[in-house]
Amino acid sequence: MANIGFERTQYCGLVSAALNGQTVQLSGWVQRTRDLGGVIFVWLRDREGLVQLVFDEATCGSECFKMGASLRAEYVLSVQGEVRMRAPEAVNAKLKNGDIEVFVKQAVLLNKSETPPIYIDDNAGENELVRLKYRYLDLRRPSLQSTLRMRSKVVSAVRRNLDQQGFTEVETPILTKSTPEGARDFLVPARLHPGEFYALPQSPQIYKQLLMLAGFDRYYQVARCFRDEDSRADRQPEFTQVDLEMSFIEPNHIQDVVEGAFAQVFDEVKGVQLQLPLPRMTWRDAMDQYGSDKPDTRFEMKFVDVSPAVKHCGFPVFEGAVADGGSVRGINAKGLSDGFTRKELDSLVEFVKTYRAKGLAYVMVNADGTLRSSFNKFLTDELSKALIDSMHAEPGDALFFIADKHNVVLQSLGELRKEIAKRKNLIPEGKYNLFWVTEFPLLEYDEEDDRYVAMHHPFTSCMDEDVELMAEKPGEVRAKAYDLVLNGVEMGSGSIRIHQSDVQAKMFELIGLTPDEAQHRFGFLLEAFKYGTPPHGGFAFGVDRLVMMLADKDSLRDVIAFPKGQGANCLMMQTPSDVKQDQLDMLHIQLNLPEQKPAE
Ligand code: AMO
Ligand code: AMP
Repeated sequence: MANIGFERTQYCGLVSAALNGQTVQLSGWVQRTRDLGGVIFVWLRDREGLVQLVFDEATCGSECFKMGASLRAEYVLSVQGEVRMRAPEAVNAKLKNGDIEVFVKQAVLLNKSETPPIYIDDNAGENELVRLKYRYLDLRRPSLQSTLRMRSKVVSAVRRNLDQQGFTEVETPILTKSTPEGARDFLVPARLHPGEFYALPQSPQIYKQLLMLAGFDRYYQVARCFRDEDSRADRQPEFTQVDLEMSFIEPNHIQDVVEGAFAQVFDEVKGVQLQLPLPRMTWRDAMDQYGSDKPDTRFEMKFVDVSPAVKHCGFPVFEGAVADGGSVRGINAKGLSDGFTRKELDSLVEFVKTYRAKGLAYVMVNADGTLRSSFNKFLTDELSKALIDSMHAEPGDALFFIADKHNVVLQSLGELRKEIAKRKNLIPEGKYNLFWVTEFPLLEYDEEDDRYVAMHHPFTSCMDEDVELMAEKPGEVRAKAYDLVLNGVEMGSGSIRIHQSDVQAKMFELIGLTPDEAQHRFGFLLEAFKYGTPPHGGFAFGVDRLVMMLADKDSLRDVIAFPKGQGANCLMMQTPSDVKQDQLDMLHIQLNLPEQKPAE
């Protein structure tokens, strides 16, 4: 066999017509082979793509030719050969370098492969469970390769940008104490302290505040966070944040910094120039107009509150909702009066019911100006006019209304708005609507627990104008808190923090922590705040979520090298897994497992 090494002169995918006539050395994996008797064509793949090799006995000799004939998918190969132009009729438009091929002169088989359980091809579409089990093979696919490279570019752009803006990256502990981001903690038993546990950080929140106290002024970290919550398309139990904190600042300073970092990412990674400053929308407006604190503004159909127009309209559903202190709101799906079949309308009714709405009323404005509606019996001329005027409806429009308690109307109509946009292809491609949602409420009422909880987290300070409301109407107090939203997805959150220990203690009290509990969990923080804490605030955004949006993927699993599956488990390594009894003994842990159901 030829005595060549495996150092390449070129990546396969980068061999092009510019190298015509030159000898190159390539290494990679066999994508597929075609044996035409006299010649064998082999597609060789590396991180940059494919190139066609030609094993022709006259060029490579009989031993090499025989080896070429033995190649199978995913064999690892190194070859030396000459780049030649293909005849015009042999050009393969599917390959970016389909106008050339490499005539093999020497080749070394570096390794064989068993038949892989999945095809290494973006279009193969195997069951995701199999792909996750063989993730190292899945990662060979071009789409995952390019997404992970994009991810690396995103993080690199952010790091360079924040370095330039005077930030210091500081690593904070992974073995720590519970942080109140609102999810369940992952716990780690402490061998040296039987019966005690570390918690994995849900975010570096408290550490970064302490770093401000320590005088670092501008901190950031590409930080791994852990939250024991159910996996969803946009949630992973472990994920990565770009976390930052600054001292002596107002919200707009933090927003400027974040905008700068995002602008650099969009420019370098997508070639998109963001218009800065980014738009702002208050939380109240977002809820009233879109029924969401992370609205997708790439399409219209803003809510219109028709309650004033319908409160005496004679339609019991509408009147009743307003009389009960709720509201009636509508959306206008422009030009879609003929866009829904009877069956589709029925399915939309079922759809809103999953969000607790009791029903969905519609009025279709026909092209000739006549109306069709789901409540004809009650649709008087007066009510028609009131609805058409309020909704700015024109012939051809489809109007949908939901009447209920405010929060039910907002949520169900918000979901309906998105569903109609999705079903009717109203979402433009290639558009990035990135903006701030500001003035979030400080507290949110938890009906189950019958108490207020912090909407962001309990270190968030309230707006100066609203301090007075704190005692009487805590639910109306607005926070110095802001989210960054991209195309209907929450990218990140931040706030100005409380920096006085007495105010922080009051906040703990407000959310139902007794002084003893507050002392037990956060005593160190209340103590720290006594030693000259500067006013400070910060922000954190999800790297996984940002990359998911930039790479146009539907799931975080597509942008994380080794993600967790639905059950927060790793199918490849079989994690979590049991451990040996002596490991448990060392930790003084006795298992108390639920009884296993007897086999059927
Ligand atoms: P928050 O909890 O809003 O704020 O998190 C900030 C951002 O982190 C991302 N994120 C997630 N990504 C994937 N999977 C998850 N399970 C997950 N949870 C959150 C989101 C989210 O917007 N310490 C505060 C920030 C601050 O106040 O400075 C915090 O962690 O993109
Ligand atoms: P009904 O009088 O119950 O037949 O309802 C007349 C129309 O009102 C039907 O199209 C229902 O789907 C719709 N409807 C019922 N409840 C609501 C509601 N809470 N909001 C909007 N429409 C509703």
